[in-house]
This record gives sequence, C-alpha cells and structure tokens, in this order.
Amino acid sequence: MEKNIAIDYLRLSITDLCNLNCMYCTPLEKSRFLTHDDVLRYEEMARLVRIFTRAGINKVRLTGGEPLIKRGVVDLVKMLKGIEELKEISMTSNGILLKNLAPSLKAAGLDRINISLDTLRKDRFKKICGKDAFDDVWAGVEEAIKCGFDPVKLNVIPMQGVNDDELPDFARLTLEYPLIIRFIEFFHTNQRSEKLISSLISSVKTKKIIEQRFGVMNPIDSVQGNGPARYYKLSKAKGAIGFISGSTGNFCGNCNRIRVDCAGRISPCLFSGQVCDTRGLLRGDSSDDLIKEQIKRVFNNKSKYSRFSINERVVEMSSLGG
Ligand code: 5AD
Repeated sequence: MEKNIAIDYLRLSITDLCNLNCMYCTPLEKSRFLTHDDVLRYEEMARLVRIFTRAGINKVRLTGGEPLIKRGVVDLVKMLKGIEELKEISMTSNGILLKNLAPSLKAAGLDRINISLDTLRKDRFKKICGKDAFDDVWAGVEEAIKCGFDPVKLNVIPMQGVNDDELPDFARLTLEYPLIIRFIEFFHTNQRSEKLISSLISSVKTKKIIEQRFGVMNPIDSVQGNGPARYYKLSKAKGAIGFISGSTGNFCGNCNRIRVDCAGRISPCLFSGQVCDTRGLLRGDSSDDLIKEQIKRVFNNKSKYSRFSINERVVEMSSLGG
C-alpha cells in the first residue's frame, strides 16, 4: 500500500550561481546560467513560499548555487519570517561569506544553518572546491556557533582517495564543538562527478572507520531537522554525527520535501526534472488560489517519482541545492 507522507518541507534555490567549483557538484558542462529576469525577485519568492504554506509547507530551506552570494539575502529571510505559517527557516551554504553575514541572518530570523565542508586541510580544500577558502569557511562555522545557531550542521561527503583519511578528524570535532557532522553518501549527478563513482564510501563503512577509532557510538533521535539522517553520539561529545545514505539506502518512501529552483520551477524529486513552472503564473494575473491548485497537483503526484523510477535523468545539484 502506498503511504501518504505529508509534504511540509520546501527547498528553495535562490540562485544558480556559486562562488565555488566543487568536484562532486559543479558540472564542467554547465555553460548557461539564468539571466537576471529569469530569476524570481524576492517578492515573487516570498509570495510563492506563502502560497506553498497554504498547501501544507511549514519549513523552508534556502539553497543555491550559493545563497549567500545573493545581494539582500538577509531581506529575503526577513520577508519569509513574516509568513506566519512557516515554523522554520534554514539555509545550506558553503560558508565562505558567513562570517560577516551570520549575525544579521540570525537577527533576521534564520533558525538553522548547514555548511558544506569536505576537508579540514587548507591545501586540500582548493583541490576539492577550486578555491583557497578554507579559512573563510572555518571562520564562518565559528561565527555561526557564536551567534547561537543551534544546531550548526556540517555536510561532509566522504570520498575514497580524496578525504577518507580525515573522517576521524571530522568525528573528533564533535568532542570539541556543538556541531552536527553529517556524512552524506556521494551520488553522481553529471559527467564530471561520474568520475567519482568509484570513490563512494558507504555510510556503513564511514561509521565503521569512526568506531574503530573512537569506539561504538550510541544512536540518538534528538537532533532537529527534516532529513533522512540517522544520528549517533561519541561518548562525552558536545555534538553528534549523522549519516545520510542517499546511494546505498532507500528513503524515497518517507520523502517529505519538494524543491523549487530560482526560476520558480518545481521538482517533486531530485530525479524528476522540473514538472511545473510557477514563474509564468506569478508574473501573469493568476490568483494565489490557482497557483496553490498547481502546487497541490504536484504534491498529489509526488509519490510517482523516486530515484528508482527515474534515475537516468541528469540532476543539477549545483542549481537545485542538494
Ligand atoms: N552527492 C551527494 N551530495 C551532494 N551535494 C552536492 N552534490 C552532491 C553529490 N554529488 C550536497 C553537499 C552539499 C549540499 C548542498 O548538497 O553535501 O552540502
């Protein structure tokens, strides 16, 4: 019997541009970016999110590209904060610009932040992400903790031959900092990342590597978030460790999320492609009710899509935000 999962979590990509060029994310073949006019204005984004809340969404995550390179992103957070039905506003960022922005994001009402970080070594950061920016990211992580974001999560993609020797170092961070380290299984999304397929380290293996060093971890279920991660704690840790098994696991049946890109195109699944364009409706004279009906239609059909039903489609993580 098909389960009916309530769809309450929206991931909104606010730009398809990024200030990094990560080996597992940015496609080499990406040559076209959206124009200024293609991209929804903040007022349009806020209206769209408000309509989504009428269809059942109560949490929104801002993604990109890199959301912090958008000028005025703090204003967008403030606008979204004014939507009463939204219980939580979060963001996924690469952290480069976070040090300066964290206090105003916090003041504007951003509830939580996830930062992507795949290495703790400066020289390696450049190899993985194409830019020498480790110090900026780490300053952003520390500032986010200082500003009171709770929890601050770090997204780490373990890759054989790339950062596999650092997995215990990431785990060790949870002893010192109140960080949630989330190990995310790699999955390939484009021609460039295809080359990394053989680098996949499963969650089972990552957990084993960590437990060999630090001893058996205790499962916990108290970490805030909407995702499919399983969480554990090292003894005496301030933080926690999570595993997201996107490649070896199957959590499609419990998926509560919907994605919208910065041009207003809705994807019910990372692997579905875009199935509904809202920009034309937002810029035409469509009423909120009509747009809500379109959204509801996507929600009702969401269970048709999954990684397993349509996996030959190219996913644009770099534009759709992970
Ligand atoms: N495989 C797994 N996760 C990915 N992300 C981006 N590309 C991939 C990929 N190919 C995740 C990163 C980042 C988030 C935005 O998306 O963990 O933190």
